[in-house]
Amino acid sequence: MKGIVLAGGTGSRLFPLTKITNKHLLPIYDRPMIYYPIQTLVDAGIRDIMIVTGGRNSGDFLRLLANGKEFGLKHINYTYQEGEGGIADALGLAEHFADGQKICVVLGDNIIEHDIREAAEKFQAQEAGAHILLKEVQDAERFGVAEVAGGRVVGIEEKPKRPKSNLAVTGVYMYDATVFDKIRTLVPSHRGELEITDVNNAYIEEGTMTFSYLQGWWTDAGTFESLLRAANLVAQSVIAKQSAVRV
Ligand code: G1P
Repeated sequence: MKGIVLAGGTGSRLFPLTKITNKHLLPIYDRPMIYYPIQTLVDAGIRDIMIVTGGRNSGDFLRLLANGKEFGLKHINYTYQEGEGGIADALGLAEHFADGQKICVVLGDNIIEHDIREAAEKFQAQEAGAHILLKEVQDAERFGVAEVAGGRVVGIEEKPKRPKSNLAVTGVYMYDATVFDKIRTLVPSHRGELEITDVNNAYIEEGTMTFSYLQGWWTDAGTFESLLRAANLVAQSVIAKQSAVRV
């Protein structure tokens, strides 16, 4: 399975922090944000990785990450998203890289405590379709929200005013190669973007969507509150690991 980190967008919810840099280069405690989703893929055993970025600071990713030596990688692939087409539009740019294989997509501002190895193995064993990771949250209206019935996800609503559950769809998505055909059928949402939720709903309609629950903490980092929360959660984990080593 190949890995894709989506790190485009203007990060307008974080202005003025993102006026002169890309959101995914901002610090989360002791590392730049983009390090965490890359590590998530590497920890799942994925070594063939593409970063989709955009905007005026895209060259900084290359300077920061180079060939991925810090992650034990020999090479990283990069591609460039023009404009503000949304998450599904950014993913569409990775078709050539995916080259017919299954892919694991991680949003560049999603940070998790543990790893996704089990879910990745489960999806590898799945013949076709998609797999998403759900997490119980208090503020579901900020996310894609899944409705689960009879052990299946029966629908996802993007940022609903009245969420049908407290299950957020995290920014970790596993897809088969048909994802690119599905993206081609999408129309822009009211915010003018191709939504990843529409891609996921296409798999749900097809009956090929599976899911698991993400263990450990999870946060995005695209707003001031979640950026601070992410830094605090990472700091706590780092400090806990350091004191465990000392004992
Ligand atoms: C995106 C997706 C949303 C998902 C979230 C996870 O939202 O559209 O479905 O729950 O990422 O972080 P965004 O925060 O980019 O608006």
